[in-house]
Amino acid sequence: QAKVEIALGSIPEGKNVIIKWRGKPVFIRHRTADEIKEANEIDWKTLRDPQPDEDRVQKPEWLVMLGVCTHLGCVPIGEAGDFGGWFCPCHGSHYDISGRIRKGPAPLNLEVPAYQFPDDDTLVIG
Ligand code: FES
Repeated sequence: QAKVEIALGSIPEGKNVIIKWRGKPVFIRHRTADEIKEANEIDWKTLRDPQPDEDRVQKPEWLVMLGVCTHLGCVPIGEAGDFGGWFCPCHGSHYDISGRIRKGPAPLNLEVPAYQFPDDDTLVIG
C-alpha cells in the first residue's frame, strides 16, 4: 500500500521495529537520550556521506529509514556492528545510530523515506 500507519506507543524506548512498506523493510528506532547524544557528538563533516543527525530525523527520538543496505541491498541487522547501530552481514557495512555509513563498502547512509507525524502517537510512512 502507498502509506503505512504505526502506533508509536507500541514501540518502547531503545527498541527497533521493522515494518514493510512498498515491499521494502523500514526500520523504526525509538532512540534513547544517550543515543541521540551519540548521534550528535560525531563530527559529521568527516563522514563518508556527510550528514548531521538533525537532517535525518524530524523528531530526535524517532529514527525512520529504509532497511536496505546502500551497497547491494541486503537488510542490515539492528543493534549490531561497531558503531551502535546496524550491521550488514553481506559484505560488512557498519551504520551508526543515525543510520550513517561508518565502515565497510556501502557508499551512502541508509535512506530516509517520506514520513509524517499526524499526531503525537502516530507515524505515517509514505
Ligand atoms: Fe550490505 Fe554489501 S549489501 S555490505
